[in-house]
Amino acid sequence: MADLLVTGGAGFIGSNFVHHVVEHTDLGVTVLDKLTYAASRESIDELPSDRVELVEGDITDATLVDKLFSDHGSVVHFAAESHNDNSLHDPSPFIQTNIVGTFTLLEAARKHDVRLHHVSTDEVYGDLDLDDPKRFTEDTPYQPSSPYSASKAGSDHLVRAWVRSFGVRATISNCSNNYGPWQHIEKFIPRMITNLIDGVPPKVYGDGLNVRDWIHADDHSSAVLRILEQGRIGETYLIGADGERNNLQVVKALLAAFGRNEDDIEFVTDRPGHDRRYAIESGKLRSELGWSPRFQDFEAGLADTVAWYRSHEDWWRPHKQATEAFYAAKGQ
Ligand code: NAD
Ligand code: TYD
Repeated sequence: MADLLVTGGAGFIGSNFVHHVVEHTDLGVTVLDKLTYAASRESIDELPSDRVELVEGDITDATLVDKLFSDHGSVVHFAAESHNDNSLHDPSPFIQTNIVGTFTLLEAARKHDVRLHHVSTDEVYGDLDLDDPKRFTEDTPYQPSSPYSASKAGSDHLVRAWVRSFGVRATISNCSNNYGPWQHIEKFIPRMITNLIDGVPPKVYGDGLNVRDWIHADDHSSAVLRILEQGRIGETYLIGADGERNNLQVVKALLAAFGRNEDDIEFVTDRPGHDRRYAIESGKLRSELGWSPRFQDFEAGLADTVAWYRSHEDWWRPHKQATEAFYAAKGQ
C-alpha cells in the first residue's frame, strides 16, 4: 500500500509536490491524474518507480476513486481545471472536475475514513483594491469572480460541509499565485518567458497594474506537507510568501533578465471580470505550524524559472503555437 494518494500529481503544482515529498519524506506516492492538456508525465517520470506510481484516471470516476481510497490513508487533492481564461471560454469542465470531482473524493473519504487535504486558491475571496491596506485572511468572506474561482469556492464549501456533517478528517489551504518549473505556458509567467525566448513582446492585459502575490511552487509544497502532517482537522490555512507585484513589475523584471528594453511590452485586450489584486496574510500558518518560505527573493526565483524554461524547450515548444492561437482569437 502506498502511503499517499495525490490527485493532479502530473500537473504543475501537484508534480512539484510529488518531487518535494520524494525528496523530504520516506512516503510512497500514488498519483491519480486524468492527464488533461495541462498534465505532463515527464514532470514525474524521472522519480524512482518504487516511490511513485501513476494511475491514469478521472476524479469523477467513483468506482476508481473508491478503490484507491480503500488502499490509502491520506490524500492530497490538487486535481482541477485551473485556468481562468479557459473557464471564461468554457466553464463546463470546471464544474465537473472542481465541484463533482471534489464531491466524489469526499464521499470516498467519508466511507473509508481517509485523511484529506484539499488544495484551493485565494481567488475564492474575490479581489482587493490596489490601495486597500487589507490582505486576505482565513476570515475573509467568499466572493469569487470567475467560473474558475466560483468552482473552487464551491469545492471548499463542500469540504467544510463534509467535515461538519460527516466528520471527514479534512483540511483546506488557499494559496496565492504560484510560479516555478513545469507550469503550463498558458499561464502568465511562463507565457511571458516563452514569448521572450521567441523574441515576441510580453502581452499584458489591460493597464498591467493588477497585483498578484507570487509564491514559488516548492514553498506551496512545503506548506501543504506541513498542513497534512500537523494541521488541525477542519481548519483552513492561507499560504503566501509576501510576494505582491503588479504585472508590469513582473514583466519588467523578465525583460531585464533577457537584456531587453523595459518598455518593449504589448498591451492587449483585458480579461472580462479581471480581479484587481490578491494579497495573502499567512500569519496563521506561520505561527501555528512554524512554516516559512524558502524562496524569499522573487527576482532570484524568477531567474531560476527563466533558466528552467530555456533548458526545457523540448517540453513546452509543442504547446506554444496552439496556446498563442487561443489567445490571438481573443485579441490577447
Ligand atoms: P494544473 O492545471 O497545472 O494541473 C491540474 C492537474 O489536474 C493536471 O495534471 C490535470 O491532468 C489534472 N486533472 C484535471 N482534471 C482532472 C480530473 N477530472 N481527474 C483527475 N485529474 C485531473 O493546475 P495547477 O496550477 O497545478 O493547480 C493545482 C491545484 O492548485 C488546483 O486545485 C488549483 O486550484 C490550485 N492552486 C493553483 C494556483 C496556481 O497559481 N496555479 C494557486 C493556488 C491554488
Ligand atoms: P494567470 O497566470 O492567468 O493567473 P490568475 O488569473 O490565476 O491570477 O494571470 C496572472 C496575471 O497576469 C493576471 O492578472 C492576468 C495577467 N495576464 C496577462 O497580463 N497576460 C497574459 O498573457 C496572461 C496569461 C495573464
